[in-house]
Amino acid sequence: MPADFVVVANRLPVDRIVGPDGAEEWRTSPGGLVAALEPMMRSARGAWVGWPGQPDTELEPFEINGIDLVPVSLSADEVADYYEGFANDTIWPLYHDVIAPPQYHREWWDAYVRVNRRFAEAAASIAAQDGTVWVHDYQLQLVPQMVRDLRPDVTIGYFHHIPFPAHGLYAQLPWRDQVLTGLLGADVIGFQRAQDATYFLTAVRRRLKYEVKGSNVAVPTVDGGTRSAVARAFPISIDTAPYTELAARPDIRARAQEIRESLGNPSKILLGVDRLDYTKGIRHRIKAYGELLEDGRLNVEDVTLVQVASPSRERVDAYVHLRDEIELAVGRINGDNDTMGHTAIRYLHQGYPREEMVALYLAADVMLVTALRDGMNLVAKEYVATRADNRGVLVLSEFTGAADELRQAVRVNPHDIAGLKDAIMEAVEMSPAEQSRRMRSLRRRVLENDVTAWSDAFLRALSEVRSR
Ligand code: G6P
Repeated sequence: MPADFVVVANRLPVDRIVGPDGAEEWRTSPGGLVAALEPMMRSARGAWVGWPGQPDTELEPFEINGIDLVPVSLSADEVADYYEGFANDTIWPLYHDVIAPPQYHREWWDAYVRVNRRFAEAAASIAAQDGTVWVHDYQLQLVPQMVRDLRPDVTIGYFHHIPFPAHGLYAQLPWRDQVLTGLLGADVIGFQRAQDATYFLTAVRRRLKYEVKGSNVAVPTVDGGTRSAVARAFPISIDTAPYTELAARPDIRARAQEIRESLGNPSKILLGVDRLDYTKGIRHRIKAYGELLEDGRLNVEDVTLVQVASPSRERVDAYVHLRDEIELAVGRINGDNDTMGHTAIRYLHQGYPREEMVALYLAADVMLVTALRDGMNLVAKEYVATRADNRGVLVLSEFTGAADELRQAVRVNPHDIAGLKDAIMEAVEMSPAEQSRRMRSLRRRVLENDVTAWSDAFLRALSEVRSR
């Protein structure tokens, strides 16, 4: 049946897990994107086009939790060249300010074009007449124009979940003009920060020479005229309800207490929660913390750092190296500082269900978000959403999208290790009254601007452009 509302994202909101006995089950896949879109897809019935998460999986469309899922199959070579290659070893490092060196390979680009076309064809074949197609993220930047070519009747939105780089960096991309043209197939191109939209519009003006006025781009059409595309910021957020509800549940609160006890009841628990990614500043955080122990400003009997680093993109070289570096650093710090009863860093290279994450948030006195570059960082917002007693301190890197909104966090430049150490001490020593003053304001911001407000704002902008 044709769908009025089609979401196109690299991943379906589920993973197919096949057990050793061959039994199959579907599980919700990790990542902020899924968390952000799931509630909206349930309320407005639509279809979701995406990859099931494993190579060579040919599946018919199916339904789960009221969402029609349309699987797009990728071969093992396409996973290597399109997903691990062009998306995660070219675009990802380039768009995160070249924290790791981007790799440019023509065969990866060819696979990116081919796979983007497959997603576009799937979306074009299920979208209802005059329907809406909402494309997500950097894996699919060519899809908006491809869908427009196939289906000029539909309204097309694109949201970019990661940063967009300054022109001086963007200009490195050998296919820079094709990517801009692909994105400009959308009626509305959404970014996390105003800065990202500005960088994109600068690239459009400088490279394609299109006329740009405010957030509007005059995009040339085949008939010799122009149409208007809008590029501006729509900062994403979380579905706050499950976090506030879980945080109030007695069993989750008991679990938080149990976690504290199992860590030896330290007076302060510091927490980091990240995908194991070089953009997250995990090394910087661990270094600063290790030096505080070494300097004697913190004591392992009183403080523990819990670092959850969920496995991610494990076949990409930069991620393999990062894991080795982090695990070496954690091993050294623990070796130097642990006692029989207390550990400096409880490092967990695992993913956890939301219930356990909320218990961890409740157990943590200080949340450390020290990303070197991050489109938004939803973990910061999740922590704030769970802190109903207005206690706890968020240490937040100024290089995250969240820093634009969460002004009452303790802001840090993670490259400045001395400054990061001072910020950690400020958080550890902060008075309850000051914690409460800051957390109250952070909570207001997060609870008022949840993911529904975000998608409403984006879809409103989309209908405004279309009705012009
Ligand atoms: C980031 C990206 C998402 C991606 C997620 C998990 O949040 O913006 O598009 O889904 O990371 O990464 P993965 O490579 O596992 O999909």
